[in-house]
Amino acid sequence: MKKRQELYAGKAKSVYTTDAPDRLILEFRDDTSAFDGKRKEALERKGMVNNVFNAFIMERLEDAGIPTHFDKRLSDTESLVKKMDMIPVECVVRNIAAGGLVKRLGVEEGATLEPPTFELFLKDDERGDPMINESLAETFGWATPEQLGEMKALTFKVNRVLKQLFAEGEMLLVDYKLEFGLYDGRIILGDEFSPDGCRLWDANTREKMDKDRFRQGLGGVIEAYEEVGRRLGVVFPEG
Ligand code: C5P
Repeated sequence: MKKRQELYAGKAKSVYTTDAPDRLILEFRDDTSAFDGKRKEALERKGMVNNVFNAFIMERLEDAGIPTHFDKRLSDTESLVKKMDMIPVECVVRNIAAGGLVKRLGVEEGATLEPPTFELFLKDDERGDPMINESLAETFGWATPEQLGEMKALTFKVNRVLKQLFAEGEMLLVDYKLEFGLYDGRIILGDEFSPDGCRLWDANTREKMDKDRFRQGLGGVIEAYEEVGRRLGVVFPEG
């Protein structure tokens, strides 16, 4: 499958049309951004690491019965996906308090959240992805109550699968963001799952192994992403 036309260039990925009307190619770039694009840097190998890692996770999720847009990895930095109608809502689950929750509510970073929380945000870069709720999503037509219910159920199903998977690699899945879309009238998981969109801590030392290393200027960003993959048995191409 060949790339045809660039459809959209996001902050870290570009999306291309293909010969097939219902398939797109995602290209994972080295570009990394934080704070709504205010901080940008190209981190060598990141596109490859996230593409290979995402393929691994999407396959695990499919194996667990979670429908995703992922078809197959095409190259080190490209994957073929189903073309969906994206739902402009981000779903965030938190198992441990960190990031936005700590800032917003003043809870202690590292506190266990039982039960885990579920939050919705509008995908809107200009407004810094504001927090929304089910009522707003319904009123403004971003998603129906049925779709939101399905998205919530799938987001928690992902939590059960990935908490266990990361625990086997001695890591804590602190929080993560998922995006969904419609394909053939069905809600499926879209976007990517990589250390760019979740928080992962070493289970013993609580060392950060995710994009917070970039946000907080801790260094060793890609080395940490590769370590996350290595602990799960992901084999990254050389070079
Ligand atoms: O910033 P906040 O604490 O709300 O983020 C929660 C989780 O969602 C983090 O893992 C973060 O990396 C992810 N996230 C994301 N993209 C966004 C907002 C949050 O991947 N636009």
